Amino acid sequence: MMADNLKDMTMDCAKPEGRVPQKEWRILFVCLGNICRSPAAEAILRALAERQGVSHRLMVDSAGTYGGHSGDLPDPRMRVAASHRGYQLTHRARQIRPADFDRFDRIIVMDDANYERVSRMAYDLEGLDKIYRMRDFARKYEISYVPDPYYEGADGFEYVLDVLEDACQGLLDDLLGSADFVK
Ligand code: 4NP
Repeated sequence: MMADNLKDMTMDCAKPEGRVPQKEWRILFVCLGNICRSPAAEAILRALAERQGVSHRLMVDSAGTYGGHSGDLPDPRMRVAASHRGYQLTHRARQIRPADFDRFDRIIVMDDANYERVSRMAYDLEGLDKIYRMRDFARKYEISYVPDPYYEGADGFEYVLDVLEDACQGLLDDLLGSADFVK
């Protein structure tokens, strides 16, 4: 009995600030409809990770705060724009659910409205702590949010892809450089 207690204490002490070192990061991108920004971010991060030989260290998914497009493929305009850059978007839209706070390490939102909706779903402080804004990973673009291209022309989709490529690289560098990530 005593030996068991000692073992538990030793394991607790070995965790940096109570966190378990990560071998794999589980990332969920969130936008409104899950048919433009977040499925594009999902495909871009996956492609960057593959290019850097670390795709086995990432699990990536996306979801929307609005469920009206559930089951749909990404918007055809985004699929065409993304395919010109080599990304095939095959994700099927789904709405974010409370269980996502347990399934993912980071939940990365595109704008303030997403942030509000996702924050209200978090059921504890640990969940709130998992929510990040995509804009904070962008390095070339000084933006306060990733704009919604849904009501825009083709230029809007190109711009969003530019921003997402920049921010996804920033995010990947952040994850790989994280003290929690086991090399
Ligand atoms: P997303 O874009 O949030 O980047 O997927 C939108 C998609 C659909 C709608 C709005 C934004 N909509 O109103 O249906």
